[in-house]
Amino acid sequence: MVGIESADSPPRGPGHLLGGRPVGSIALGGAGMSLSAERDDCVSITAIRAAADGGIVLFDTARAYTTVDAEAHNEGLFAEALGSREDVVIATKGGHFRIDKSTWGIDGSPEAIRADCERSLRRLRRERIELYFLHHPDPTVPLAESVGELNQLRSEGKVAHIGLSNVTIEQLESVQDVATVAAVENRFPATEAPKDGMAEHCASHGIVYLGYSPLSGVMAGLRAGRFPKLAEVAARLSVSPQRVTIAWLLACRPDVLPIVGASRPESVADSARAADLALTAQDLVRLSTELLAATPRIRIATEKADTARRMETS
Ligand SMILES: NC(=O)c1ccc[n+]([C@@H]2O[C@H](COP(=O)([O-])OP(=O)(O)OC[C@H]3O[C@@H](n4cnc5c(N)ncnc54)[C@H](OP(=O)(O)O)[C@@H]3O)[C@@H](O)[C@H]2O)c1
Repeated sequence: MVGIESADSPPRGPGHLLGGRPVGSIALGGAGMSLSAERDDCVSITAIRAAADGGIVLFDTARAYTTVDAEAHNEGLFAEALGSREDVVIATKGGHFRIDKSTWGIDGSPEAIRADCERSLRRLRRERIELYFLHHPDPTVPLAESVGELNQLRSEGKVAHIGLSNVTIEQLESVQDVATVAAVENRFPATEAPKDGMAEHCASHGIVYLGYSPLSGVMAGLRAGRFPKLAEVAARLSVSPQRVTIAWLLACRPDVLPIVGASRPESVADSARAADLALTAQDLVRLSTELLAATPRIRIATEKADTARRMETS
């Protein structure tokens, strides 16, 4: 953790830069809008538009975030909601796809990546994808081959920036001579603060580090009544504990751009305002003590809750 002893959290600037372009300090992820059993496309489209109107720049989708009956459902929502707006960056991913209710597959072959990217271009109704990720390294395909194809797509102008998701530092370094990787998207629950050094590595190499599932441990902990200090700070400031958590994460980890997932417009609007919530140095320290100390218990609770949720939605 950095910057928590010295001062109150400062007002936010333009946030992270993707190839020199400001992309803000919070991204919106759309997986829940397709994978949740309670999905409502009209509500989701309203939520995405409200996020863009409220200043969110970076939106995260993927081929794999789809319903069993509608291929690329999630990309379709973003296409519908954002049209040809140029003030947003849509990040999408290939090489990972849904097979049936409970099974996803990985195919990182150059042919599959090209086909996925071209499908995404059609679905998003764009001539170029600003940020295109390999969703997961394929253990049966050398990573350099997958990334080589991404680089080829970039040189053809179909992709502006290349990203890798669910990778290790070793994997990232292994392809540094193959292509310039502009972003990494890995799991970063705020309460776990993963210690693999990836966020720090990205910061020192000018790579945007997107942290997904930032609230997962917090949601489970709140449900179990395990965060009294977080609840107290939220009540005192009359804001949601989720907003406080994201503000805390932004203050403590400027090297992480959290992708907050939300399906309701209220959640989106609430979380987006976390960038403007200044917490005192004292609150930051108290929250760090509580949220990070709870990690082992919360991780178990989170894994159980995530498993239950997957079973519910499959
Ligand atoms: N690259 C990968 O392999 C990968 C894997 C997983 C996820 N992701 C990306 O990361 C995104 C986020 O992941 P996630 O959905 O697991 O994570 P999350 O942000 O940790 O949690 C989402 C949950 O938080 C709730 N929430 C968010 N803001 C809230 C607020 N202000 N007040 C109350 N509740 C709030 C949402 O509620 P509602 O839905 O009710 O609004 C939803 O239930 C995904 O959408 C996806 O884009 C990437």
